[in-house]
Amino acid sequence: MAATLFAVACSAPKSEIDRKVDDLLAQMTLHEKVGQMNQLSGGAWLADQAAKGEVGSILNCVDPAEINAVQKAAVEQSRLGIPILVSRDVIHGFRTIFPIPLGLAATFDPEIVEEGARIAAVEATASGVRWTFSPMLDVARDPRWGRVAEGSGEDPYLDVQMGVAMVKGYQGEDLSDPTAMAACIKHFVGYGAAEGGRDYNSTMISERSLRNTYFPAFKATAEAGAATLMTSFNEIDGIPSTGNKWLLKDILRDEWGWEGMVVTDWNSAGEMIAHGFSRDLKHTTEQAVNAGVDMDMMSYGFIQYIEELVKEGKISESEIDRAVRNILKLKFELGLFENPYVDETLSAKVDYAPEHLAAAKQTAIESAILLQNKGNVLPLDKAKTILVTGPLADAPHDQLGTWAFDGQKEHTVTPLAALRKEYNVIWEPGLAYSRDRNKSSFAKVRAAASRADAAVVFVGEEAILSGEAHSLSNLNLQGAQSELIAEVAKAGKPVVVVVIAGRPLTIERDLANCDAMLYSFHPGTMGGPALADLIKGKAVPSGKTPMTFLRDAGQAPFYYNHNNSGRPCNGTETLLEDIPAEAGQTSLGCTSYYLDTGYGPHLPFGYGLSYTTFEYGAPAVAEPVVGKDDVVKASVELKNTGKYEATEVVQLYVRDLVGSVVRPVKELKGFRRVTLAPGESANVEFELPVSDLAFWNIDMEYVVEPGDFQLWIAGDSASGAPVGFIVR
Ligand code: BGC
Repeated sequence: MAATLFAVACSAPKSEIDRKVDDLLAQMTLHEKVGQMNQLSGGAWLADQAAKGEVGSILNCVDPAEINAVQKAAVEQSRLGIPILVSRDVIHGFRTIFPIPLGLAATFDPEIVEEGARIAAVEATASGVRWTFSPMLDVARDPRWGRVAEGSGEDPYLDVQMGVAMVKGYQGEDLSDPTAMAACIKHFVGYGAAEGGRDYNSTMISERSLRNTYFPAFKATAEAGAATLMTSFNEIDGIPSTGNKWLLKDILRDEWGWEGMVVTDWNSAGEMIAHGFSRDLKHTTEQAVNAGVDMDMMSYGFIQYIEELVKEGKISESEIDRAVRNILKLKFELGLFENPYVDETLSAKVDYAPEHLAAAKQTAIESAILLQNKGNVLPLDKAKTILVTGPLADAPHDQLGTWAFDGQKEHTVTPLAALRKEYNVIWEPGLAYSRDRNKSSFAKVRAAASRADAAVVFVGEEAILSGEAHSLSNLNLQGAQSELIAEVAKAGKPVVVVVIAGRPLTIERDLANCDAMLYSFHPGTMGGPALADLIKGKAVPSGKTPMTFLRDAGQAPFYYNHNNSGRPCNGTETLLEDIPAEAGQTSLGCTSYYLDTGYGPHLPFGYGLSYTTFEYGAPAVAEPVVGKDDVVKASVELKNTGKYEATEVVQLYVRDLVGSVVRPVKELKGFRRVTLAPGESANVEFELPVSDLAFWNIDMEYVVEPGDFQLWIAGDSASGAPVGFIVR
C-alpha cells in the first residue's frame, strides 16, 4: 500500500501533450498506427497514401508547394487528420552552406556552430522541413572512412561540445517555434569504427569502449533534449544496431531515460537480411520493432508486416503504442497539428540572407587551419599580382562538400572570385578537377608563376570523394595535384597551398614543396571570401585539427587518445633504412611503430598555427591534491609574442596514470578560444570538475578512481609539459 501511494505521489502529472497523444491513440486503428511508423522518400505523389493515413513522415522533398500538397492530403483527407513530419538531411546548412561538420569541429567554437545550426533551421523550416538528420556523432578515427567529413572527428569530448551545440541550434528554445527543427542524433552507434575505414563495414567494439568513447556524445545530446535518434547500419559484435535491444531499450530508455523517437537509417531494417541476422523482411520488422525502433525509413517492412505480426502475437500492441506515442508526441511538440502548412513565400525571404552569409563566412574563417608558414609567407599582404591555380580554386559545387543537397552552387563564392577583388590575378586552372591527370598545361602554369609575386595553389578533393559510401584506401592528393604543386614551386616564387578536402589527407610530401599551407575542410558557400581574407591578412587563422593527420594511410586508425601499449615508442626506433641486410630477428626492446612511417603521425590532434606566435607558460594547478567532489583549478600564462592580434584555441588534456583498466595516454577535457593583441598576455583558467575524470572501470562502473593524474595546457595534443595532481 505504502509503495503504491509513493508511486502515485511521485509520478509527474500528465502533460497536456501526453493527454492529447493518449486521446488520439485511443481513436486509431492498428493500420493507422502502423501508417505513422512509416517514413517514405518523396513528395506530392505520396498524397494518396497520406490520405489513407499510411505515411507518418516523408524525406527528401523540399518544395513548399509539394510539401503542402501531401500535407493537405494527410490533414484534410485522412480519417484522423494527423499531419506528416517532413524531414531532410540538413547537415551543414540548408541553402547557405557552412563548412562540413569536420570543419565546424576545427573551429573549436561551439557558439558559432550553434549559430550555424540555428541559421540552417531558419532556412530549412522556411521550406517546410521540421526534422533534420543531424548531428552525426560518430567518433571517427580512420580518415579512409568517407564519412569522417560528417562528424566532429576523433575525440569524444569535442564530439560532445559540437553535438550539443548543433542540437541547441536546430531545436532552438522551444520545438513549437515554427523555425525549430527537430534534431536527430546519429548513427547509434559505432558506425565510425568500420573495420578498415570501409563504409557500412562491421565493427567490433567492447562495451567499455562503447561507454567510454562512443556513447558520450549520444548521452550528452539526449540529455540536451535531442528529439530523435537514428540507428546505424553497422553491426557490433554480430548484432546490427537496428535490431539491438540492448542499445535501443536497455541503454537508451532504461539507463538514460531518454523519451525521444527512434528512426532506422535508410533501409537499415531491410539490410539486416543481408547481414544474415534476419530471414526476410517480415522477420526483420519483428526484430526492429521489438528492439525498440519507432519509425522505419524506407524498408517498407513495417507497413507490410506489422499488422500480421501483431495478429500472430510476435509483436505486442503495446510495442506499437510505444512507437506511435513517441511519433505523435513529437508532432504535437512541433506544433504540427496547429500549423501543418508552410508559407510558400517564406523561403525566398530568408534563404541566403546577408546575415546568414556573414555567419557562414566567419565560420569558414575560424575553421581553416594553418599547417605551415615558412618565412611568414602568409599573409600575402604585399603581393600585387598572384597566380591562382588548381582544381579547387573555382569549383563552386565541390567547395560545398558532401551532403549539401539544397545549397545551390550559383550562390557559392569561390576563392578565385574573392581573390580577384584583392589582387591582380593570373588564373591558370592547371587541372580541371581533383582526379585529373592531364598535365598538358603545366608549363603554362609554371610560366605564369614566374610572372607573379606569389602563387596560390588550390588542391584537394571533389565533394564526391568523401561522405557516405566514399571511402578511400589511398589518402594522397588525387590525380596530378602533387605534381602541380611541385611544378609551381620550380618558378621560385612563394608558394601557398590551400587544401580544400573532406578528410585529413596525407599531405606531408606536398608540404615540402610549398612555403605555406592552409587546410580547409570543404568550407561551403562563403569559403572563397573566407580564404581570401586569410590569404590577404584581413583575418588570422585559428582552426585546429579535429583529427590526427597521417603520414600514410597505412597508419590508420591513429588517434591521439589511444590506450598505452606495453611497449610505447621512445624515439630510438630503428627505421627501414637503418636495418642491415640479413639482420637477425630481434624483438627485444622493440616498441609499437612502423618501420617505414616511424612512430608518430604527421600532425597531432589539436594542431594549428597562426600568423602570430603564442608562448605558453608552465601549467599550474591551484591545489595539488583534490577530493572526488572538488574542482581542479588549472591555469596557464599565454602570451601573444607575434605581430598580429589573433585567437588561440587553448586546450586542456589529462592523463589518469594508473587505472583498474588501461587509460588513454591523453584526453581532451576542456578548451577555450582566447584572443590576444600583440604583446598581450593572459592567465587562462580552467575549472575541471573531478567528476569529469570518471570512466567505466573494471567493474563496468562509472567512477573516478583516486590516484595520480597529469594535466597539460597547450596549443595541441603533442606539446607542453604536464603538471601533476592527485585525486584522493
Ligand atoms: C545515411 C543517413 C541519412 C539517410 C537519409 C542514409 O544513407 O546513412 O545518414 O540521414 O540516408 O538520407
